[in-house]
Amino acid sequence: MEKQLEALKQSFCEELERVHKPDDLEPMRVKYLGRKGALTSILRQMGSLSAEERPRMGALSNELKTYMEEAIACKADDLKKASSTTGIDVTLPGRSPRKGGIHIINQVISELEEIFLGLGFTVASGPEVEDDYHNFQALNIPEHHPARDMQDTFYFQQGILLRTHTSPVQIRVMEKSGLPVRIIAPGKVYRCDSDVSHTPMFHQIEGLWVEEGITFAHLKGVLYEFIHRLFGKDVPLRFRPSFFPFTEPSAEVDIGCIICKGKGCRVCKNSGWLEILGSGMVDPEVYKYVNIDPEKVTGFAFGLGIERIAMLKYGIDDIRLFFENDLRFLGQFA
Ligand code: DAH
Repeated sequence: MEKQLEALKQSFCEELERVHKPDDLEPMRVKYLGRKGALTSILRQMGSLSAEERPRMGALSNELKTYMEEAIACKADDLKKASSTTGIDVTLPGRSPRKGGIHIINQVISELEEIFLGLGFTVASGPEVEDDYHNFQALNIPEHHPARDMQDTFYFQQGILLRTHTSPVQIRVMEKSGLPVRIIAPGKVYRCDSDVSHTPMFHQIEGLWVEEGITFAHLKGVLYEFIHRLFGKDVPLRFRPSFFPFTEPSAEVDIGCIICKGKGCRVCKNSGWLEILGSGMVDPEVYKYVNIDPEKVTGFAFGLGIERIAMLKYGIDDIRLFFENDLRFLGQFA
């Protein structure tokens, strides 16, 4: 009987080795441990054993029973673990990787660049961490001008700050490259301000054309062409006299409201007009800072907010959406 128990253990172990599916374990348990199973049929022979042999065989078969039960439980565990780590269902449809897209602000910048490149401008850039001199002083913004208010500007130490507009690029370009200058400069600017129409960081695009014989007519011509290429030929423009320290004369430009076509709506505050950029003839004071003789050349400059253009173009009513990185928003423009 001892031999039979040993043979049973051997065949049990071999068979268990070949099991790879949890569903095959229960039939095995029945085959070896069930009421009509192999072990039970060996135990039936107990009656024929001598009184001395019986306890030893009883102990041996109990031991085998426990061994087989534990081995089956162990195997069940292993199979479960294996299926959760390597159980790859090759019939499942693949997960396609998420595609990124170009941020809507960068798309608008590219569109604006494209228009101005077509008008003979080149793209320039300058540092976002600027000094007081380029951001204010050389642009004829004197020491106590309200634009320097601590409320509006992020200052570092010792005259270093985050540029509050792209206008300092005008100065850097005129300092460096000879005349004529015909550039645009898109980029990030920073102001201490935050609500539905202001974020502490936003984007502007600056324009500057300085050359012999440039007049206000050139300014108007370029801006008309720009707006018509951007918003369509029927959009009316309106030049309003204004003031900027670095231009004289200065004008703010409005376009006929592209939402209500000038009839009056919430976006244009019922005026039918939308203010979209600042511009003017470069103030002769500015040329002094960059060693250009104001008697020899003239020029014009303009600056506008890129988010504002994007909001109008796509009907977006909260500027903060651009920078919250909500993929449901950004994905609409990818
Ligand atoms: N720098 C001005 C601002 O941030 C915008 C501006 C106005 C730029 C008139 C110009 C300009 O170049 O001529 O509000």
